[in-house]
Amino acid sequence: MNYNKIYEDSIAQPEQFWTQQADAIEWYNKPATILSKDENGYPQWYKDGELNICYLALDKHIQDGYGDQVAIIYDSPVTQTVKKYTYSEVKTEVAKLAGGMLALGLKKGDTAIIYMPMIPQTAFAMLACARIGVIHSVVFGGFAPHELAIRIDDCKPRAIITASSGIEVDRLIAYKPLVDEAIALASHRPKKVIVFNRKLGARIPFKKYDVDYDALVYGSEETACVALPSNHALYILYTSGTTGKPKGIVRDTGGYAVALKFSMKHIYNVNQDEVFWAASDMGWAVGHSYILYGPLLNRNTTIVFEGKPIKTPDASTFWRIISEHKVGTMFTAPTAIRAIKKEDPNGEFIKQYDLSCLKNQFLAGERCDNATLEWYQEHIPIPVIDHWWQTESGWPMIANSLGIEKMPVKSGSATKAVCGYDIKIFNENGQELGPNYEGLVVIKLPLPPGNLLGIWANEARFKASYFSKFDGYYLSGDGGYKDEDGYIFITGRTDDVINVAGHRLSTAEMEEVVAAHPCVAECAVIGIHDELKGQVPLALVVTKLGTEMEQYQLEQEIIKLVRQQIGAVASLRNVVVVQRLPKTRSGKILRKLMRSIVDGENFQIPSTIDDEAIIDEITQTVQKHKIGSYNL
Ligand code: COA
Ligand code: AMP
Repeated sequence: MNYNKIYEDSIAQPEQFWTQQADAIEWYNKPATILSKDENGYPQWYKDGELNICYLALDKHIQDGYGDQVAIIYDSPVTQTVKKYTYSEVKTEVAKLAGGMLALGLKKGDTAIIYMPMIPQTAFAMLACARIGVIHSVVFGGFAPHELAIRIDDCKPRAIITASSGIEVDRLIAYKPLVDEAIALASHRPKKVIVFNRKLGARIPFKKYDVDYDALVYGSEETACVALPSNHALYILYTSGTTGKPKGIVRDTGGYAVALKFSMKHIYNVNQDEVFWAASDMGWAVGHSYILYGPLLNRNTTIVFEGKPIKTPDASTFWRIISEHKVGTMFTAPTAIRAIKKEDPNGEFIKQYDLSCLKNQFLAGERCDNATLEWYQEHIPIPVIDHWWQTESGWPMIANSLGIEKMPVKSGSATKAVCGYDIKIFNENGQELGPNYEGLVVIKLPLPPGNLLGIWANEARFKASYFSKFDGYYLSGDGGYKDEDGYIFITGRTDDVINVAGHRLSTAEMEEVVAAHPCVAECAVIGIHDELKGQVPLALVVTKLGTEMEQYQLEQEIIKLVRQQIGAVASLRNVVVVQRLPKTRSGKILRKLMRSIVDGENFQIPSTIDDEAIIDEITQTVQKHKIGSYNL
C-alpha cells in the first residue's frame, strides 16, 4: 500500500474514507450519515449508527468461534501471579457484573467512576459499563482522594467501582479508604461502592454503601449488550489542562471503535490472534485504547501488567513477559526504557531471553530521545516506532503507519500524519509555516473519528481550549515543525502542562496547592528536564513577609501538601524559596525564562522583564540547591 495515496484520500474525501473503515466493524444499525455537525456545530461521526463496543470486544469473537482464545493475560510480578482469561471467561464475568450493576439500579447514561489498580477486574468493570451504556470514568490510582473528589463532583457517578488495595512495587496501598475519604470530601454522594476484595493485608471495614464485587458477580444473571447510538459517551477520562481543574474528555462509541480497529491494522500492523502489550495503566488514554478496547476489538490477546519496568523484581521484567507470553508488538513510554537502561546499561538481562517473537516496539507519551532509541536498537534490533497522540485524540495522530507502508525512521520524529489528520504548523497569527520552522501544531477540522466529543458538562471550556485560537482548527497544545519530507517533529508543550514519566500533569494545579500553604505569598511551578522522567516539577516559592519557618521545613511541608492533595504521581520533590519571581512589567510570571535558567539553556532576556537583576538571583538559588542542570 502507498501511504501518500491513502493519506491524501483520507484528507480529500473523509466521508468516503471513513465509510469504508466503518465496514470493518459490526453495527446493529449501520450509519447512513457519516459526517455531520452536532447541536453546537462540531463535527460528529456516524450519527445514526448503533452498536455496542463490549459486543465487538467480546461477544462477536465468541460467536465467530474464538471463545477459547486467551483475551487477557494478567501478569503481576508484585503478587507473583500469572492468570489467563479466555474470551468466553471474560464475557461471562462481564455479563454477570453488568447484570449486577443493573440490579443495583445503574442504567444507561449513568456515570460510574473506576478507581482500581492494574488487575483484570478493572477491565471487567469497564466492559461491564460499556455493555449496559453506563459511562465509565477511570481515575488513575496514583491520584489522591482530593483529586478523586474533584472528579466525583464533576461527573457525579451513581457508583464507584474499586478494589481493596493496590501494590506499588512492595508497598500495599489501601485503595478503599482513599475512596471513602474522597466521598467524604465531595459534595456528590454516589449510591454504591462496588469493592473487589483482593484479600491482601488487613480486612477493611465495610460501609453502608459498599457492595462486594464477587458476591455481586456470583449472584447475578448474565445480561446482554444494549444497542447504543454511535455518539453515546463510552467514557470520560480526566486529563490535565492549563487551569487547576482537570478536563473530562468525553469519548464517543462508534467513531472510537472504527478508529481503534483502523489503527490496530494500519498503524500497529497487528494480526488477529497476536499478543499485543501496552505497558501502561488503565487510568491513562493508552490503557483505555491499547490495553483494553483496541486489542480486544481486534481479537488480540492483551496483557494487564501489574508492575514496573524496574524493581518488580528488576530490569528484566519486560523481557521476561515478552518472551513468556510471545508478545508480537509492544507499546510503552520512553521513560520506561530509560529506567531499564539505567539499571542494565549493557543489556545483560536482554541476552537472557528469547525475544524473537517481538516485531515492533512502539513508544509514546513523550518525545523519544536519541539516546534511548539508539540503546534500544543496539540491544534489540527491531523497528522502534515513536508515535504522537493525546488523551483528546484517543489514538495516534502522527505515526509510522506500519500497516500501510513502513517509512524510514528519523530520530526525533514520530514520522508522518496518520490518515484523517490534516496537521499543520502555524505561527501565533494563524499563518502556516514552511518546512523546518517551529510553531504551534494544529489540525484542520474535521478531526477523524475517535477524537473527543467534548469536555464533560463544559462546552465553553471545550471551545476555549481547542477551537477558539484558530477558526476551523484544533489546537493541540504542542509545538513542533515539519521537515521538507513531511516528517513531523514534536518539540514539547506550548502551555503549562508538563509530562512527568509519561504522565501528563498541570503546573497550574500544583501552583494552586502550593499557594494554599499559609507561608506562601506567591509561587510558580515549572517543568524542568529530568534524565529519567523527562520532566519533573520544580516549585519556586516567595514567602510572606515575617515568615519565620525554616526554609527546609517549608519545602518539606509543600512537598507533603502536593502529595496529599494531588498524589504521589505529581513527583514534586524540588521546592526552592526565592526572593522574587521574574515578571513582565504587566505582572505576568516569566515561567519559560525560569525553565531555561534551570535547564541551563541559552535564553534571551525578555524586553518586557521588570527587573533584570532577578535572573542572577534565580541562577544563584538553583546553583545553591543543585537543581536541574546545576545538579552536577
Ligand atoms: N497507585 C499509587 N501510587 C502510584 C501509582 C498508583 N497506581 N502509580 C505511581 N504511584 C506513585 C509511585 O509509587 C511513586 O511514589 P513514591 O514517590 O512514593 O515513590 C510516585 O507515584 C511516582 O510514580 P512514577 O512516576 O511511576 O515513578 P517511579 O519512580 O515509581 O517509576 C518509572 C519511574 C519510569 C519506572 C515509571 O514512571 C514508569 O514505568 N513509567 C512509564 C509510564 C507509562 O507507562 N506511561 C504511560 C504512557 S504510554
Ligand atoms: P496524554 O494526553 O497524557 O496522552 O499526553 C499527551 C501529551 O504527551 C502530548 O500533548 C505531548 O505533549 C506528549 N506526547 C505524547 N506522545 C508524544 C510523542 N511521541 N512525542 C512527543 N510528545 C508526546
